Amino acid sequence: MTKICCIGAGYVGGPTMAMIAKQCPDVQVTVVDINEKRIAAWQTDDLPIYEPGLDEVVKEALGRNLFFSTDVDQGIRDAEIVFVSVNTPTKTFGAGAGCASDLQYWELCARRIKEVSTSDKIIVEKSTLPVRTAEAMERVLHSGQTDVHFEVLSNPEFLAEGTAIADLENPDRVLIGGHETPSGQKALQTLVDIYATWIPRERILTANVWSAELSKLTANAFLAQRVSSINAISALCEATEADIGEVAHAIGTDSRIGPKFLKASIGFGGSCFKKDILNLVYLCESYGLQAPADYWRQVVAMNEYQESRFVKTMLHSMFNTIAGKRIAIFGFAFKADTGDTRESPAIKVCRELAAEHATLVVSDPQAMEHAKLEMPELADEIEFEVDPCKAAEGAHAVAVLTDWKQYKELDYQRIFDSMQKPAFLFDGRNMLDHQALFDIGFEVYSIGKGKKTHLK
Ligand code: NAD
Ligand code: UDX
Repeated sequence: MTKICCIGAGYVGGPTMAMIAKQCPDVQVTVVDINEKRIAAWQTDDLPIYEPGLDEVVKEALGRNLFFSTDVDQGIRDAEIVFVSVNTPTKTFGAGAGCASDLQYWELCARRIKEVSTSDKIIVEKSTLPVRTAEAMERVLHSGQTDVHFEVLSNPEFLAEGTAIADLENPDRVLIGGHETPSGQKALQTLVDIYATWIPRERILTANVWSAELSKLTANAFLAQRVSSINAISALCEATEADIGEVAHAIGTDSRIGPKFLKASIGFGGSCFKKDILNLVYLCESYGLQAPADYWRQVVAMNEYQESRFVKTMLHSMFNTIAGKRIAIFGFAFKADTGDTRESPAIKVCRELAAEHATLVVSDPQAMEHAKLEMPELADEIEFEVDPCKAAEGAHAVAVLTDWKQYKELDYQRIFDSMQKPAFLFDGRNMLDHQALFDIGFEVYSIGKGKKTHLK
């Protein structure tokens, strides 16, 4: 029986390994982590992350060929293939602070693997890493005296949160990078065969290690760039009475552009886009490529502009003062169908509203616990109310910050009746029926569309 170990039981390690275990009953998969609470939670009905469909996948394999453990060394020692799926956040200190990836967790893993291994292993980079990290890892793994051989592959993960299970079950592609040596190609084939259990071969792409590493950063940069591009146009729409929905539809029907990732919003969030673009910026700068670095940095700058622009619209439309006004925040997660709040645009929006002395009530169906932790400095000032209708009671404004589909189905007449007048609604996700809201009596503002106001 092939034995796999995955170091890191987070948003990527947990779901990807659960899917491999589900699809390959003859492969034993052990996910290890230093976080005892997380490892314990994976073995209960209350999983440590919210992801639609994940419970069923875990349940099917747990205890059969899927195991979770805090014994990192044992997990590594027993495995032929070790995935490393630890966090690689933006560095907050020293050289490259605020831009480069913090590789300390990944390097600790490499040192641990070297320390405890007694047999040859394939090491798979699942974490998103700067291009040429594999080279550094190989140096660590093969440093000093050792008879054990490690073959490093890059297998970046493209799943998006909220749709992780569908993305893993039926991915557009799987990408595996390996060295062009006989042992590199053999290792690569071993991993291809595992994915080929459920993924058509033509969707399993192989490449050299550096291309695979760089493709992951590039994919996220391109996706984020589309969001920033449409958000840039949304500002121009608001100034010109063009409608961003109509513009996005018109350009998206061009098959060269395509319709996806053209939804104007308060800005992109999530643990990946900003971090990965800044990492790309840092890499470009490290290689002396200032123009490409400046180009990509602008995608992040545009995103920050969009978040602040939304708050400015709220402030100006509410007569340039929101001090003491109750504002209900509908949604704190960075997107629908996840409880994850990392880099959520809601964080910046709430901070800027709080700086104007607004009274905030935050509501979210899945992200309340994380939301409380994101803004410790405001914990005493912000009210948290899971029921959005209650959050809106007595409020001057509702701001929709996450595209949870349940927000479409709320009784907005009841919400309107319970609010202060004029009642403002700011749809940061362009997801509600603005005409119907206007007809109820709301002052409606959205992204890249004309305002609907009863005020003269
Ligand atoms: P995460 O923070 O949810 O999980 C990482 C886990 O690694 C944590 O549970 C942590 O305790 C554990 N860990 C850290 N150091 C360890 C060590 N030395 N030994 C054992 N365990 C250790 O992170 P994530 O969101 O799963 O992301 C992991 C990687 O995957 C990152 O590089 C990220 O960029 C990449 N990625 C994330 C996503 C996503 O949607 N979240 C998608 C694609 C790629
Ligand atoms: C992203 C990539 O999509 C995925 O391939 C990669 O593996 C990890 O990073 P994720 O961050 O989980 O996934 O979610 P994604 O669906 O990409 O959304 C990111 C952010 O962009 C969210 O805040 C979302 O609301 C926003 N977004 C997305 C828009 O504002 N408009 C869009 O059209 C699409």
